[in-house]
Amino acid sequence: MARISASVYTSHVPAIGAAIDHGKTGEPYWQPVFAGYDFSKQWMKDNKPDVIFLVYNDHATAFSLEMIPTFAIGTAAEFKPADEGYGARPVPTVIGHPELASHIAQSVIQDDFDLTIVNKMDVDHGLTVPLSLMCGEPPADNFAWPCPVIPFAVNVVQYPVPSGRRCFMLGQAIRRAVESYDEPLKVQIWGTGGMSHQLQGPRAGLINAEWDNRFLDRLIADPAELSQMPHIEYVREAGSEGIELVMWLIARGAMADVAGGKPPVLKHRFFHVPASNTAVGHLILENA
Ligand code: DHB
Ligand code: FE
Repeated sequence: MARISASVYTSHVPAIGAAIDHGKTGEPYWQPVFAGYDFSKQWMKDNKPDVIFLVYNDHATAFSLEMIPTFAIGTAAEFKPADEGYGARPVPTVIGHPELASHIAQSVIQDDFDLTIVNKMDVDHGLTVPLSLMCGEPPADNFAWPCPVIPFAVNVVQYPVPSGRRCFMLGQAIRRAVESYDEPLKVQIWGTGGMSHQLQGPRAGLINAEWDNRFLDRLIADPAELSQMPHIEYVREAGSEGIELVMWLIARGAMADVAGGKPPVLKHRFFHVPASNTAVGHLILENA
């Protein structure tokens, strides 16, 4: 049977992608951000998954006001990096896992969560920046991400957005789906976006480092309690784009302790302000 080996949580700031793509990671502004991922890149090499189930949000790139799926699972064989207005990032095409993705869609929909099935989709910085942070720059002679990736897009851009509680329950359904797949795959689940940031209106530039760190504490130790937090508290305390953090509860809900297993092992924790307009947070939790 497939199993979830670990969960990864990270912010997805587009300027981080631009810094990588333009060779600026060593600059004084960026160096402390990338230093927080040195451990993670080595950890990825030492703990290479067979598949990454990557929970992220599209930023009106693949979707628009014409179509707003709350939860969308990518079942295609591949997903191209999107042109977000300044050309596509020079990163590898994302190779999907149609068989596992279709199985998860079947299982999760029969488990009462309505997913939109997406067979064609470009992926924006919400997905490619976390891959770059965790995997580094792929070598020219093997220009590929280390493994297949199932993109799972969550609407946190256009209201109404899903509650943290529903995201946490969905994570539990995803875990059941993975564990009922008849092949011994090692699957990582990633929750991305956040932390506190607001890109618009009178509060643009808002960062709340104290609240962010409390969020990390609670996500590690008591995610069930954290999942009860209403969306308005994210917006009030972490800014309008801080709502991206509900996606972290999907990944956390898929960990073994939520289903009565052992608490996860905290392998890495990192927090840094600022990166562009955003507080950067990052965790790695392994199933014991
Ligand atoms: C920024 C952060 C985001 O999450 C995003 O999607 C776009 C921009 C920023 O910090 O500039
Ligand atoms: Fe974003």
